Amino acid sequence: MRLDVFTLIPHAFAWLCEQRPVATVLGGELELRLFSYRDTTPLRAAQIDDQPYGGGAGMLLRVDVVAAALDAVYGGPPDHRVVALTPKGRQLDQALVEELAGEQCLTLLSSRFEGFDERIVTNLASDAVSVGPYVLSGGELPAMVLVDAIARLLPGALGSDASSRHESFSAAFEGGLEHPHFTRPASFRGWAVPEVLLSGDHGRIDEWRREQTRLRSAP
Ligand SMILES: C[S@@+](CC[C@H](N)C(=O)[O-])C[C@H]1O[C@@H](n2cnc3c(N)ncnc32)[C@H](O)[C@@H]1O
Repeated sequence: MRLDVFTLIPHAFAWLCEQRPVATVLGGELELRLFSYRDTTPLRAAQIDDQPYGGGAGMLLRVDVVAAALDAVYGGPPDHRVVALTPKGRQLDQALVEELAGEQCLTLLSSRFEGFDERIVTNLASDAVSVGPYVLSGGELPAMVLVDAIARLLPGALGSDASSRHESFSAAFEGGLEHPHFTRPASFRGWAVPEVLLSGDHGRIDEWRREQTRLRSAP
């Protein structure tokens, strides 16, 4: 899959690229390209934002700047999905991550300031996605959330470890929350690991985990 991220802060993604699972799939199942709006802006002095018509606080990312960035990379409107990251968008959940991870190519547009000129969302993007009902200062963290969540679903991202696969797929796609996990020590400050997990009886353990998952998922 090819993921293109348009941002004002490409270097913010360096950390993400060094971490699993993104680092694991980079150069293989995942091609991640980072583009700065400033590199292709048609405006002088690397300008990319402007004051809102009608007045109001803050600056907006300009539509001509984003169009120029897309033209420079794709030679015109891309023929794949373009996601504008905005708090007003469709709220991200695992089903949407899975849907987007199924794309061959995907473009993410992030903004800062007071956000996008609305024409970016309505005319240049195919989707508007929010990572949650709160407002962040920029689209870089939302873009990283999406890149990480998508990378986890790509082949080989989590290795062949069955537990990783279980973590990745079952809880999220079954719409529930996972059962609780424990590791050593078996008792700490009097907080004991449930006896069943120490029993070695995998039938009982599976049954207990299913029940815990069911209890956590109950409305
Ligand atoms: C300060 S916010 C803009 C807030 C603006 N008033 C609005 O409602 O779009 C700046 C940028 O951060 C990104 N952003 C902030 N919160 C987000 C969220 N919950 N989901 C996705 N992107 C978000 C978007 O790219 C947004 O344009």
